[in-house]
Amino acid sequence: MTTSEETLEQSTSDASLARSLARSKEIDEAIDQDPTRFRVLTGDRPTGRLHLGHYFGTLRNRVLLQERGVDTWVLVADYQVITDRDAVGPIQERVLGLVTDYLAVGLDPEKTTIFNHSSIPALNQLMLPFLSLVTEAELHRNPTVKAELEATDGRAMTGLMLTYPVHQACDILFCKANIVPVGQDQLPHIEQTRLIAQRFDKRYGRVDPKRAVFPRPDALLSETPLLLGTDGTKMSKSRGNTIELAMTADETAKILKRAKTDSDRHITFDPENRPEVANLLTLASLATGEDPVAIAERIGDGGGGALKATVTEALNDMLAPIRARRAELAADPGYLLSILRQGNEKANERAEKTLNEVREAMHMVY
Ligand code: TRP
Repeated sequence: MTTSEETLEQSTSDASLARSLARSKEIDEAIDQDPTRFRVLTGDRPTGRLHLGHYFGTLRNRVLLQERGVDTWVLVADYQVITDRDAVGPIQERVLGLVTDYLAVGLDPEKTTIFNHSSIPALNQLMLPFLSLVTEAELHRNPTVKAELEATDGRAMTGLMLTYPVHQACDILFCKANIVPVGQDQLPHIEQTRLIAQRFDKRYGRVDPKRAVFPRPDALLSETPLLLGTDGTKMSKSRGNTIELAMTADETAKILKRAKTDSDRHITFDPENRPEVANLLTLASLATGEDPVAIAERIGDGGGGALKATVTEALNDMLAPIRARRAELAADPGYLLSILRQGNEKANERAEKTLNEVREAMHMVY
């Protein structure tokens, strides 16, 4: 790639980010006007336990959307687990673990549909017509797929990895969701989904002449600042620098005791020059709602020790009711399974309805 192409690509993506941010703001206002116009679809891969990055980045926001009256669908993306690993791992435990976390943070199964990929055949069947609408070159250009390919270090990439953005389009479109809360890194997937919706309309047509079969969904970008792990590097389970919702208060304190700070005892909120200290202040601020600058001023010359004590207390106070509820729920796997089955029943109904429209649009009703 030449430099001017790189610059062009960069400025295009800056422009599209700015557009997505502006659009997210519009959507947020439109939700206040009339929440019933919207359906949200979001989900997680059941590959491990959810941590504070998930909580502040998306889980908390899902509960808010639910409370604002938006029809909310949450997917346990079990088929996405096998995009990049050889086996399913302790999948039962992880799927139920996600359901536990969802309910513990306040998702209400009466308002929010919780379901999983492998239980919804008609969702997965959308993959065939949708794959006909994308080119192989387009799939290779997807930034996430590209990054995965580079990270495989010469190991073969599976066909499922190459095509998973299309599967994500199935997740979003089967229930005709029109908003998808995501981080910036997922924006290309939403664009791919919009393209599929648009191309389906153009190539296969409509059932109702006035309305396309699929809506063109928008991303709803999170306003949460990027959170780092407690060592100041990218949050990741393997680095042991995250606080999981399921941890105890003591485990939380222990991880924060090891957190990285710096040698300046006077605590200030300075993300540019003191990223580790600022990250801890941000965590405390997200937990209490207090301004990070005010928290820093209160700690003053207390140093790293006082900062860590403040963060530990803020997080443990916030997490205490979630953890108590989590423990209660975890003791009743039968209940968790019943919630998932109830969601799957609803998702199957929706998926079959959509697949029937697809068959009709494609003249494949026999
Ligand atoms: N890829 C998402 C993750 O890693 C999970 C996911 C699957 C998803 N399908 C989706 C998110 C559709 C939003 C929309 O957590």
